[in-house]
Amino acid sequence: MAMGNWTEISEFILMSFSSLPTEIQSLLFLTFLTIYLVTLMGNSLIILVTLADPMLHSPMYFFLRNLSFLEIGFNLVIVPKMLGTLLAQDTTISFLGCATQMYFFFFFGVAECFLLATMAYDRYVAICSPLHYAVIMNQRTRAKLAAASWFPGFPVATVQTTWLFSFPFCGTNKVNHFFCDSPPVLKLVCADTALFEIYAIVGTILVVMIPCLLILCSYTRIAAAILKIPSAKGKHKAFSTCSSHLLVVSLFYISSSLTYFRPKSNNSPESKKLLSLSYTVVTPMLNPIIYSLRNSEVKNALSRTFHKVLALRNCIP
Ligand SMILES: *[C@@H]1O[C@H](CO)[C@@H](O)[C@H](O)[C@H]1NC(C)=O
Repeated sequence: MAMGNWTEISEFILMSFSSLPTEIQSLLFLTFLTIYLVTLMGNSLIILVTLADPMLHSPMYFFLRNLSFLEIGFNLVIVPKMLGTLLAQDTTISFLGCATQMYFFFFFGVAECFLLATMAYDRYVAICSPLHYAVIMNQRTRAKLAAASWFPGFPVATVQTTWLFSFPFCGTNKVNHFFCDSPPVLKLVCADTALFEIYAIVGTILVVMIPCLLILCSYTRIAAAILKIPSAKGKHKAFSTCSSHLLVVSLFYISSSLTYFRPKSNNSPESKKLLSLSYTVVTPMLNPIIYSLRNSEVKNALSRTFHKVLALRNCIP
């Protein structure tokens, strides 16, 4: 704590999973590399197939494409660096690199919360006003809604990152996490951070609660509308169009709230890392899988695209 010990920190060290034996780290490396490649492929495939197939030009697939785009961004910010730390060759991250990573993590994270809410609203309009769906969700409205979902990420990420990185850092520069998330970096600050912590908690609650309430509202109305449908077949059909979204939303919200809203006492860094992994690495991989396996429209579009590609290949001499 001596003032003389104060040194300017120019880089951080990401501890990642360095407490684990090397063999396990190699195993994790292979696992995450595989998950990463599947995520990139799955989400790129969703983007391509929703662009290419005319049957998938409804608003729902516009938002799904946007979600896939976001997941790719979210992954690019975190996973390549984490893979580097697991190979144990590249554990340092510059001050600017750490700030940039945190900025984009918050930017994409907040955008995802709001985009999931927009997708719930889209389902609400589709199920509760099926006749006006195409008119309400026209091209312009879609684009505006998508832009509005991405927007809150800017101010939140900017305030969070500039405030946190304006604090003095001294002593250790070891970030006990696999990317520059706010709580582990905050631990390295040597200044009074009480006000920032209050801001961070209130901010997180708002960013999670507002979209969550919008989602609950949409689904309450969707449920009421579905219950009114007389035939079981009609009920099933209406529900099936929102079950994928509901599953994706639940996965994302449960894993991220478990990470950020657990009492401090039982928050060991290791369990936090595991939980973080679930929504930074695992959910982005599951989204395209959930949407394509549970949705016959996407499945059919995928097989049509594959056939087209095959046919194209057969034409080339
Ligand atoms: C997603 O929406 C944002 C904001 O409207 C837009 O800038 C971006 O190009 C969209 N991405 C895709 C793949 O549609």
